[in-house]
Amino acid sequence: MKNQFLAKGGKGGVGKPMTDFQFDSLLPEALQILSPYQWTPNLVIAHTWEFLKGEKVSSLLDLGSGVGKFCLILSQYAKNRFPICGMEDRNELVQIAESLKIKMNVGNVSFVSSNFLESFPYGHSHYYVFNPLYETIKGSHTIGDAKIKSAKLFLHNLQRLKEHLFFCPKGTKLITYHGFGGSVLPGYKVQTKVNLELGEWMVWEKE
Ligand SMILES: C[S@@+](CC[C@H](N)C(=O)[O-])C[C@H]1O[C@@H](n2cnc3c(N)ncnc32)[C@H](O)[C@@H]1O
Repeated sequence: MKNQFLAKGGKGGVGKPMTDFQFDSLLPEALQILSPYQWTPNLVIAHTWEFLKGEKVSSLLDLGSGVGKFCLILSQYAKNRFPICGMEDRNELVQIAESLKIKMNVGNVSFVSSNFLESFPYGHSHYYVFNPLYETIKGSHTIGDAKIKSAKLFLHNLQRLKEHLFFCPKGTKLITYHGFGGSVLPGYKVQTKVNLELGEWMVWEKE
């Protein structure tokens, strides 16, 4: 039987944005279990969209896009207002995001299989992160064991991310959910900080 959630979707993300339950039901079981820990909740995506509605967005990129949940549901809210891109270094997750994009029939979203620390995707007006470096130090609810866990590596990667963000042009915005890994971001000022029910949500602006 055709998935009822998908049947209601339309070209370019027309229709109601999916709930967490609806999105999770499209994932393989092993990835559904990780959902509360690894994929942005709809509530946070809706909050981000309320902010973006009032912004001049040329394009937005999710640094560490996982199964594509943030990008795909944001696209259902934004309805083609601007291009949305996800970058993810676990190729198997990029494959899932690509197949969900087809199933959900959303437009203006693309996914790139790459490591943003090695090849930073400059040129977007807005970036989003849901603490992608945390997995380097955290032991539970991780997406497989392929990546090394090391506090030293975490600090090294955090420094690399900060350096990349420092080279973004003035006015670039970084939206964080559960932070980017640190508390100080050189070259940026805090525009907004909100304690949402599920975690801290912030917007940083390059000066
Ligand atoms: C907490 S999940 C967030 C997923 C997605 N942004 C969302 O909100 O639903 C973080 C993701 O970042 C990815 N990631 C971590 N380091 C990365 C890197 N250097 N380059 C690309 N992706 C990375 C992980 O594989 C994981 O899928």
